[in-house]
Amino acid sequence: MKMNKEDLVLREVCLDDCKLLFRWANDSQVRKNSLSSEIISWETHQKWFNEKVKQPEHCQIFILETKNKTPIGQIRFNRDGTSVKISYSVDTIFRGQELGTILVEKGTEAILKTWQDITVIAGIIKPENIASKKVFERNNFILTSKDCCLEYRKVIKNTDKIER
Ligand SMILES: CC(C)(COP(=O)(O)OP(=O)(O)OC[C@H]1O[C@@H](n2cnc3c(N)ncnc32)[C@H](O)[C@@H]1OP(=O)(O)O)[C@@H](O)C(=O)NCCC(=O)NCCS
Repeated sequence: MKMNKEDLVLREVCLDDCKLLFRWANDSQVRKNSLSSEIISWETHQKWFNEKVKQPEHCQIFILETKNKTPIGQIRFNRDGTSVKISYSVDTIFRGQELGTILVEKGTEAILKTWQDITVIAGIIKPENIASKKVFERNNFILTSKDCCLEYRKVIKNTDKIER
């Protein structure tokens, strides 16, 4: 059955999500599409996760799930000044159903509420990552750089900002 935007909820990450994010981080397609492709150890992941959740002013992670709490995917925003980088993934069993497109749409809405002063959101992907190219294009991100990796950017206008 096709899932719609209305059937899905985006929530903030919590400490109990550490294992879930570990499983997703080591998914073979996620590692292949990542700029650093080595497998991540549980110890490295735990340390990384604990650092990230301690710094909500620099990093925000959200989980997309169904209304009965089946996890679908994750989206992470890392902030540097007023620029933000996106990294996201959909669980392998839910790919190809436009859920990546919904994840980036809902994630972008959420981060604009959380960080109201940001000016640019960007995603950097490998050129062969066709699924992600489509996801960014469908969310009106603009291709701005085509070196070894592609950079998709969304410049935030005041009209994009949503009241808290
Ligand atoms: C990128 C990703 C999140 C896309 O999620 P998704 O839910 O499958 O995305 P969508 O269903 O919205 O698919 C987007 C389009 O890509 C297509 N697509 C999906 N996988 C594809 C593949 N391996 N090769 C080519 N096209 C693919 C889909 O068919 C769809 O196109 P269509 O609607 O024209 O048929 C998912 O593939 C993923 O988790 N990949 C690993 C992590 C990753 O690459 N993250 C992005 C980098 S930060």
